[in-house]
Amino acid sequence: MKIGRNDPCWCGSGKKYKACHAAFDEKLEAYKAKRIPVPSHKLIKTPEQLEGIRKAGELNTAVLDMIAEKIKAGMSTEEINRLAHDYIVAHGGIPACLGYQGFPKSICTSVNDVICHGIPDENEILQDGDIINVDVTTILNGYYADASRMFLIGEVSEEAQKLVAVTKESVDLALKEVKPWGRLGNIGAVISEHIHKNGYTVLRDIGGHGVGNDFHEDPYVCHVAKRDTGMLLVPGMVFTIEPMVNEGEEDFYQDEENGWTIYTEDGSLSAQWEYTVAVTEDGFEILTH
Ligand code: MF3
Ligand code: CO
Ligand code: CO
Repeated sequence: MKIGRNDPCWCGSGKKYKACHAAFDEKLEAYKAKRIPVPSHKLIKTPEQLEGIRKAGELNTAVLDMIAEKIKAGMSTEEINRLAHDYIVAHGGIPACLGYQGFPKSICTSVNDVICHGIPDENEILQDGDIINVDVTTILNGYYADASRMFLIGEVSEEAQKLVAVTKESVDLALKEVKPWGRLGNIGAVISEHIHKNGYTVLRDIGGHGVGNDFHEDPYVCHVAKRDTGMLLVPGMVFTIEPMVNEGEEDFYQDEENGWTIYTEDGSLSAQWEYTVAVTEDGFEILTH
C-alpha cells in the first residue's frame, strides 16, 4: 500500500509524508537498487518510541551503576540477581530476562570462562581474581533497553585486565561507525580487527540485535564482518553492540543441564561489553551502557 504525499508520515512525526520521510524513502529505494540491504520502516523508531527506550535505558544504566557499587568478592551471583531485580521493580520496570524463553533469573551473570547467559546461583560465590559480566535488560512502559558490563573482583591478573579493556575498546571504536548512511558491517569490521590485532577471538554466531519495542529485533549485529557490507544504517534504528571476546579459541559449548550457559570450549577467559545505541541524524546516541 503506497502512502499519499499528503498523508501523515509513517514515522509518527505527525507531519505530512511529503514534508517528512518522502525524500528519505526515495533515497532508500536508490540504495536498494544498488543491492544494499535497507531497514524496513518497522526498524525505524518513532520519536515517541525513542523517548520510551531512552527512559528504559536510564533505568537500565542505573541498575548497572548500582551493581558497580555493591559487587565484591564473597557475594553470590544470586545476590547480584536479587539486587538488580529489586531495583528494577522498585523503579517501575520489569526485568526482561526473567521468564524469557524460560530463563529462570532476572539477569545474566557470566564468570571467567562463561561467555554469556550465566544463570545467577546462590552457590556461585565471587572470588578474588574473577572477572564477571553482568547483563541487564529492563522493560519500562513496554520499551526495552539492554546493556552489560565487566566487573573485576579484587586483584585480577594483568592478562584478564587486558582482555576486559580491549573488549571495551572495541565497542568504543565501533561507535564511530554508528551513523546515518553507514553500514552495519563496519561495526563488525572495526571490532574484529581490534580484537584479532590483540590476539583474541570474537564470537561470530552470537551477536547484537535490534532492540526497543521487543527484546530481540532485526537486524542481527555480527561482530565479525567486512567493511562496506551489511544493512544500511539510518536515523531511528536502535540496536545493541555486544561483542563476546575470548582469550583463546572462538569455539564454545552450551551447558546441557540448564540449556542456557555458554562456555569457552578451551576453558579460556571471555569478556563482553554491551551498549544499546540509536542512530541519530548526525551519529549515535548511547541509550544504555
Ligand atoms: N541480555 C542478553 C542479550 O544481550 C540476552 C539474555 S537472554 C536470557 O541479548 F534469557 F538469557 F536472559
Ligand atoms: Co543484547
Ligand atoms: Co544483554
